[in-house]
Amino acid sequence: MNKIENSFLNKDQFGDDFLWGVSTAAFQIEGAHDADGKGSSIWDVFTSQKGKIKNGHHALTACDFYNSYQNDIDLIRELNIPNFRFSISWPRIMPTGVHPVNQAGIEYYNKIIDALLDAGIEPWITLYHWDLPHALETKGGWTNRESVSWFSEYVEVCAQYFGDRVKNWMVINEPSVFTGAGYFLGIHAPGKKGITNYLKAMHHVTLATAAGAKILRNRIPEANIGTTFSCTHIEAATESPKDIEAAKRVDTLLNRTFIEPILGLGYPQSDLPVLKKLNNYILDDDLDNLSFDFDFIGLQCYTREVVKSSMLIPYIGAELISAKKRNVISTEMGWEVYPPALYHVLKKFNEYKGIKKIIITENGAAFPDTLSNGKVYDIKRTHYIQDHLEQILKARKDGLNVEGYFVWSLTDNFEWAEGYNARFGLIHVDFDTQQRTIKHSGLWFKDFLS
Ligand code: FCB
Repeated sequence: MNKIENSFLNKDQFGDDFLWGVSTAAFQIEGAHDADGKGSSIWDVFTSQKGKIKNGHHALTACDFYNSYQNDIDLIRELNIPNFRFSISWPRIMPTGVHPVNQAGIEYYNKIIDALLDAGIEPWITLYHWDLPHALETKGGWTNRESVSWFSEYVEVCAQYFGDRVKNWMVINEPSVFTGAGYFLGIHAPGKKGITNYLKAMHHVTLATAAGAKILRNRIPEANIGTTFSCTHIEAATESPKDIEAAKRVDTLLNRTFIEPILGLGYPQSDLPVLKKLNNYILDDDLDNLSFDFDFIGLQCYTREVVKSSMLIPYIGAELISAKKRNVISTEMGWEVYPPALYHVLKKFNEYKGIKKIIITENGAAFPDTLSNGKVYDIKRTHYIQDHLEQILKARKDGLNVEGYFVWSLTDNFEWAEGYNARFGLIHVDFDTQQRTIKHSGLWFKDFLS
């Protein structure tokens, strides 16, 4: 194929060892919500409740990846993408969250892993991408300290069954997002609210991250072990000391709260006083059990936020000024398109001494694509990806640590509370027919990776 886009970008500029990939998550693509003995997850329950998801969308079938995985793996290969990130659905392999194991679920993931390896594609597993078994939520979910041992039991099973073939592992996906949206704001599953639920979930998830990683290290000594964090470049709306302080609190909440204990720095309580309430849940040995020496940290960055002080907002005393109010270009998610954000977060996370390797494990954009004459000309997404790659290149030229880039996402999929409205794929999905069409962005990426 001819070069389809005038871009000065060239894969070689990133070096031979730079990792290229594409990311997905089980609940967003698999469907088959009750197939072959799968248990319910908190997202199965949440999506069945009225008014939780835009337009009443649900993920009973989603992209039907459960049945069409071979076709989608062929497409990954067609796009020349060497690494595929996917997650394991915990209730698919452990329907009640703990033993017994559902062998049909294990078989399903074995088939995916084998199909990827046969296609020459490296599997990257995320152990937890938000679909907690509902049976565990009835016992309090992540607000229950026992969640650390439930999760450990699940990680043991994954390591036992998949560790012989899978080298790359991520323990948890974006803890700040699923605890914030799911346990504080109640806009994601399981729909819990309030500071107590949030802080308990925060502490237990952080303990579980370190516990899960230790299990992987013991069971699969040669594994490449990481975990992922969402991160957002934060700026103060004005230079007033109040706004600058507010921006610092938001930065602490969104970017520092989850990674710092993992790096052995403890929770950043002095910069966000509400975190002192965590002391109610921290037991004697916990501080030693919060950290782990990860082989890599996955950063997931989509945008920046601009912050002003607002004493009306409890705990944080700050308000985000939306992209719409600022009248800047944004995506279907309402997130500002601001590629330098990626450079800024790389610079920021490079300042932590304890990070060995940084991989961008998600970046991408939702735009309202149209399929016409069998084609999707999503030039905005192509440019979004190119512009972010340029920021990575700039970071690498400045000597910053960043060694991989995974696009979110392979196909359009179920975008949580946004349902199917927000299309993030390099490949378009017609959700009535499950027909796949590689978009312009996908063709560009293929060309770039060839
Ligand atoms: C991230 C999630 C991922 C997807 C993208 C758009 O926060 O990890 O599942 O929804 O955002």
